Amino acid sequence: MFSFLKSKPKTAIPTFASLGVDIHCHMLPGVDDGSKSNEESLACLRVMHDAGFERVICTPHYQYPRFPNEESDILHRYDNMLLDFKGMDAKGIPQMKGVAGEYRVDSGFADRIKKEQFLLVGGKFLLTEFSLHQQVIGLDQVMFDLQMKNYEVILAHPERYPYYSSSSQALQKLKDMGVYFQINILSLIGFYGEGSRRKAFEMIEKGWVEFLGTDMHNTLYAQALIDASHDKKVIKLLEKHKFLNSQVDSDQVIKTKTI
Ligand SMILES: [Fe+2]
Repeated sequence: MFSFLKSKPKTAIPTFASLGVDIHCHMLPGVDDGSKSNEESLACLRVMHDAGFERVICTPHYQYPRFPNEESDILHRYDNMLLDFKGMDAKGIPQMKGVAGEYRVDSGFADRIKKEQFLLVGGKFLLTEFSLHQQVIGLDQVMFDLQMKNYEVILAHPERYPYYSSSSQALQKLKDMGVYFQINILSLIGFYGEGSRRKAFEMIEKGWVEFLGTDMHNTLYAQALIDASHDKKVIKLLEKHKFLNSQVDSDQVIKTKTI
């Protein structure tokens, strides 16, 4: 049993029930910097369920050379995780509605576009992320190439990129290109710092944000999600704003096994 659950008796409340689906988390064990084991995944998934999530789509990192994941291996590992869960106490977790990816726009990305080698969220959305340290070189071309192939692109956690913090112009440009934005729930309580927190609220108030995600990695994040579920500002924000999470069509998920 994970000690954080013993030392912190507070449990999550279903603040995020209106979202229904978490479209961004790292609960596939041992493939990236997310969960390390089935047990850790189950501990996090229980918290996500208590916080209101009925369904979850796993989105491991694809990032060269740090996480050189391949889609065929990820699909295989996802099936194995579901089999493992069947032999474990996997009650009280959301339905597992497939595996997709969080694709880093990096040096290997152009090749992926050429090969159209992506696992899409809900069989429809391409979840992307940028480096936290430097702007993507040739981003306009990348977005153009994706548009030409009719991809619906989501940018993960735009509030976290420091090079976008002082000006909204570059983000405005992405919105103009039709890129969807997904804010991390934990940004709303300052988990990544005050700058990201402020930016997250600012972008939601502007109506720029279509999706929220947990970006759940481990039990530290799970503890923070418990805190977020009790946060008055977060509760108010969820009452005031509508997001598109629940419209992600689960039937289109490439892998739709339900445990
Ligand atoms: Fe992520």
